[in-house]
Amino acid sequence: MATVLAIETSCDETAVAIVKNSQVCSNVVASQIPIHKNYGGVVPEVASRVHLETINSAIALALEQAQLDWKEIDGVAATCAPGLVGALLVGLTAAKTLSMVHSLPFLGIHHLEGHIYANYLSEPSLETPFLSLLVSGGHTSLIHVKDCGVYESLGATRDDAAGEAFDKVARLLKLGYPGGPIIDKLAQQGNAAAFKLPEGRVSLPQGGYHPYDASFSGLKTAVLRLLQQLEKNNTVIPVADVAASFQDTVARALTKRAINCALDYGLDTIAVGGGVAANSSLRKHLLAAAQNNNLRVLFPSLKFCTDNAAMIACCAADHLNRGHTSSLSLGVQSRLALSRVMELYK
Ligand code: KG4
Ligand code: ZN
Repeated sequence: MATVLAIETSCDETAVAIVKNSQVCSNVVASQIPIHKNYGGVVPEVASRVHLETINSAIALALEQAQLDWKEIDGVAATCAPGLVGALLVGLTAAKTLSMVHSLPFLGIHHLEGHIYANYLSEPSLETPFLSLLVSGGHTSLIHVKDCGVYESLGATRDDAAGEAFDKVARLLKLGYPGGPIIDKLAQQGNAAAFKLPEGRVSLPQGGYHPYDASFSGLKTAVLRLLQQLEKNNTVIPVADVAASFQDTVARALTKRAINCALDYGLDTIAVGGGVAANSSLRKHLLAAAQNNNLRVLFPSLKFCTDNAAMIACCAADHLNRGHTSSLSLGVQSRLALSRVMELYK
């Protein structure tokens, strides 16, 4: 049973958590959204500076909330890839320093592996193999989870990630940042059947369409064209209807691909992760489709869908229990395929 303190600073949340295997002892998330909102998106340099200002108090708060002493911690972890390099460096350097000062093992964690592990926080008995649908601001993938550290990518987006599409469409609708939660809320009052939008299929050279890959940039352009047409006709933009139609199209596209993939690979569980896993329409469509196909679908609780350090600590605890630790010379990487996770360990 490993107790791990983990730090997550890959983007715009300064997060520190302490987790005992899959039991959350404390979970501190200092969001920078109010700062980046003024710029319409994350400004990397600003993110790094704010992480630096916040990290020490977030670490102290996580220890205080858990009512734990350093003697009760078995390892220190931090997200080391993928993400904003300057932002990642703040968390990684803090974790390495703590590991040296307290003579504890250090682990670098892949951010997306953390999103997969968010499912263990509510379902500790989840067993491999299963299919993970990862839908965040930077990634959209279907991953065959074979074991801790053993992943195969079965499908991905060819262009924009699902969360990125939400953020871009929210900008077109002048709704603010981050777009996902705003569109989700607004869509509750809209008619999802108001506008027919293209799902964005990926053609194969031999004809037909890729069964698992997605494409969201065409959908975003279709929303832009729709808004331009409505404006040209001097029609008041039915913002809630556009939001609901867009959200429904994304949810259906993701659901179809995840269900097809799980059935084709004989995987009976789909575990969803990443910020878009919080989306109400995706939850509704995927739960219904899974039930119709005798599949089990798991979603992390809402606070563990978006970026947090509890999922990183939970992932690190599993690696530590298996004897995996990282070298103190480990660096950060803006990109790293999930299939290369084991390169992070000695
Ligand atoms: O996983 P995450 O916190 O950060 C990354 O690793 O990217 O995901 C953030 C993304 C943003 O694009 C945000 O708009 C989206 O998740 N998001 C949502 C919802 N909540 C957050 N998208 C759709 N519906 C939501 N309820
Ligand atoms: Zn994330």
